[in-house]
Amino acid sequence: MGTDETVRTQKRYDRQAWLYDLKEWPVEFAFKPLRRRLWSEVRGNLVLEIGVGTGKNFSHHPPGARVVGIDISPKMLRRAARCARRLGRDIDLVLADAQRLPFRDGVFEAAAATFVFCSVPDPVAGLEEARRVVTGGGRIHLVEHVRSGNRIVGWLMDSLNPIVVRMMGANINRDTVSNVARAGIRIEGVESRGFGILKLISGSKGQTGPESVSLGEREPATTKEGVVRDVAHG
Ligand SMILES: C[S@@+](CC[C@H](N)C(=O)[O-])C[C@H]1O[C@@H](n2cnc3c(N)ncnc32)[C@H](O)[C@@H]1O
Repeated sequence: MGTDETVRTQKRYDRQAWLYDLKEWPVEFAFKPLRRRLWSEVRGNLVLEIGVGTGKNFSHHPPGARVVGIDISPKMLRRAARCARRLGRDIDLVLADAQRLPFRDGVFEAAAATFVFCSVPDPVAGLEEARRVVTGGGRIHLVEHVRSGNRIVGWLMDSLNPIVVRMMGANINRDTVSNVARAGIRIEGVESRGFGILKLISGSKGQTGPESVSLGEREPATTKEGVVRDVAHG
């Protein structure tokens, strides 16, 4: 599965999966408009959602797009599958590590994630993977909470971070905008909300090349199995 920290992250989310929606219910009032906003900008026939969790984004997915969703926690994924069924959405759910995506280069027209790269142990590796699997013209869309720019609040976040990570799995003091740039993603937009702690980030692969040919232009993958087979390694 990867590093010890990756295994620990998986266990933390497995442990809280049953309570996750209830625990997040109060903050969801603030998060929902950000989810809606992010997904309104996602374009493409084949889209990757990284770290789907319990499926909170599923109702915002662009109609008509084929979405592949991954997560490292089997228990979160089980809830996501239930959510997809409830909404009547056909989403390909795959148990996978964002740091080592089981997909070929340049197959997705867009990748999106909400509140995920605070939890991925090596966020730059995960973001590099997101960049790798999108087409040359593909976009990457993120909503993340980050370390506050305010000196005192930032210090408080640093102090609380070890406890929060252990309890919830999420780091509250990351500089995700810098991590996105470090992963080689060309940042095209950053919007701040919630006193600068919430960021809507959009970027692109920043290159064009042979892999910019989208799946839409290739053999169409019409069946559920077809999509996963078509984008998988090997
Ligand atoms: C805070 S939750 C957010 C879930 C969902 N995106 C949302 O907005 O509600 C973080 C999610 O990222 C997943 N995650 C953490 N590390 C991961 C990794 N290395 N690969 C894939 N998923 C990961 C967790 O299992 C969890 O479901």
